[in-house]
Amino acid sequence: MSDILAVTLGRLRLANPVLVASGTFGYGLEYEDMVDLSRLGGICVKGISLLPRPGNPPPRICETPSGMLNAIGLENVGFEAFVRDKMPRLRDAGATVVANIYGTSAEEFAELAARFDEVPGVAALEVNISCPNVKEGGMHFGARPEPAAAATRAVREATRLPVIVKLSPEASDLGGVAKAVAEAGADAISLINTIRGMVIDVSTRRPRLATRTGGLSGPAIRPIAVRMVYEVARAVDVPLIGMGGITCLDDALQFLLAGASAIQVGTASFADPRAAIHIIDDLEKYCIDRGIRPADLVGKVV
Ligand SMILES: Cc1cc2nc3c(=O)[nH]c(=O)nc-3n(C[C@H](O)[C@H](O)[C@H](O)COP(=O)(O)O)c2cc1C
Repeated sequence: MSDILAVTLGRLRLANPVLVASGTFGYGLEYEDMVDLSRLGGICVKGISLLPRPGNPPPRICETPSGMLNAIGLENVGFEAFVRDKMPRLRDAGATVVANIYGTSAEEFAELAARFDEVPGVAALEVNISCPNVKEGGMHFGARPEPAAAATRAVREATRLPVIVKLSPEASDLGGVAKAVAEAGADAISLINTIRGMVIDVSTRRPRLATRTGGLSGPAIRPIAVRMVYEVARAVDVPLIGMGGITCLDDALQFLLAGASAIQVGTASFADPRAAIHIIDDLEKYCIDRGIRPADLVGKVV
């Protein structure tokens, strides 16, 4: 494969701009039989906390028109088990690993970041300050500029790795949050996380999710995500990684044109685990046919 798709996001160089989104591709290893993990621009692994988390009670996912609602609640194996059981196999598979991290305080974010600094094979950290499905941390950091900057600064000071900060679409001043995390030292910004929604089963009159509300993802949120990438690209100079309902090349190109330097494929991988691979192949052909690189498209909406 040529390197026509290679992209640089600040200090982070990726073989191509197509990553898989956190929480929608497990730890990557679950898909090893179907997908050559080394071909992905990066794997944002399921959000990792210092200690294992059981997540929320079921039911925690439900289908919606053009999308899904989830309230997993950041179930994960915890830092130690991830590093012991998953990282060696991810390294062997040649995967570019982006560790998505979750903490309930700036101190916890810093401790996780410092621990990841020692782990060989981690390409970058993605700081999740935008999960809508947890009582502490998550969106509580991402909703306003000051706590978002505090979490970013804590991670920045604790690690030498490139730091990607993942924004919440629910911040009322998204541009302000983006500027705050950029000033606090983020190398890149990823957006968007899910948008809170609710589905009610009218026969039982109960919400479909045990937590009552959850995060909406999939094509239903794509136009909102494209608009947010477009606006944040105008607010900051740091590179952006766009996501929200991307299923095919056309969707991915919209995000590049809106101002994203790279994209993530999320919910689409549930329907087709090879969705990201198809987009990589189609993007390569698109670029070769036109004699361009992905960077030539970034922010070029007219
Ligand atoms: C089941 C599920 C679990 C998720 N878990 C995480 C997570 O652990 N950390 C995180 O930052 N985002 C998480 N997300 C959000 C996705 O990474 C992504 O931001 C969002 O789903 C929008 O992209 P999509 O519409 O392509 O799915 C999760 C999404 C889903 C659907």
